[in-house]
Amino acid sequence: MAVEPVVYGASERPPRGDYARAGADYTCPQDYSRYTEADHDTYRRLYERQVALLPGRACKEFIAGLPSLGPSHHIPRFEQVNEGLVKATGWEIVGVPGLIPEVPFFTLLANRKFPVTDWIRTPEEFDYIVEPDIFHDLFGHVPLLYDPVFADHMQEYGKGGLKAHRLGACELLSRLYWYTIEFGLIRQKDGLRAYGAGILSSPGELQHAVESSEPQRLPLDVERVMRTRYKIDSYQQTYFVIDSFQELFDKTAPDFTPIYERVKGLPEIAAGDAG
Ligand code: PHE
Ligand code: FE
Repeated sequence: MAVEPVVYGASERPPRGDYARAGADYTCPQDYSRYTEADHDTYRRLYERQVALLPGRACKEFIAGLPSLGPSHHIPRFEQVNEGLVKATGWEIVGVPGLIPEVPFFTLLANRKFPVTDWIRTPEEFDYIVEPDIFHDLFGHVPLLYDPVFADHMQEYGKGGLKAHRLGACELLSRLYWYTIEFGLIRQKDGLRAYGAGILSSPGELQHAVESSEPQRLPLDVERVMRTRYKIDSYQQTYFVIDSFQELFDKTAPDFTPIYERVKGLPEIAAGDAG
């Protein structure tokens, strides 16, 4: 094996990606010939179910970026996506066998390369999958990389991740990723909308996050986010809301070094705790 596989949280199952295919930077070429007709069909069905849910729930920048992934009837070729993406914002997608460790992940983002898992879930996992697959990574994350402000923010996040790693603060920074890039909400002219990839690639959570009266929705506050634990196996009980991607960029621009120090001295907040 070229590199070690990576497991997220307390999973019983070993990660299914074949890490022997990955190079030292954890990337691997997309093995397009390996996809079966059933794989393409899974992609098409996931895409069609999700796209129908987007109006009134997904932010306008996501809806604008989505067609750039190409037609929904087969799994996109990464090279083809990159033709447009590189021109739009200088970002590029690269294949990975699955989750990758912090430092290679942050390094890719800092270089405007977004890692996309190249395999797709089985039909049994149509509604729920524990690990990110190509549908989550591509459909959920890539459309917003066409937005210039969000694209710049992702790169800053990568640079900030390398710094957090040096400072022993990756866990605090990963909460920010979770509550923004994965599960963030944005208030737009027409109402509350989702921009987080974990929401946008999930049929159930998209409705829960935007429409349910159950979860609490708080304005984005970096320190509050860093103190808040998260659950990876249920809908979120707390969402953080921004008014624009510029707000996300600006609120995460300050040097986090003193913020990490302060937050390390404060108690954690449970995922569903009020205030
Ligand atoms: N400003 C952060 C720091 O100094 C880096 C960062 C930028 C983190 C954007 C997340 C998002 O560490
Ligand atoms: Fe993700």
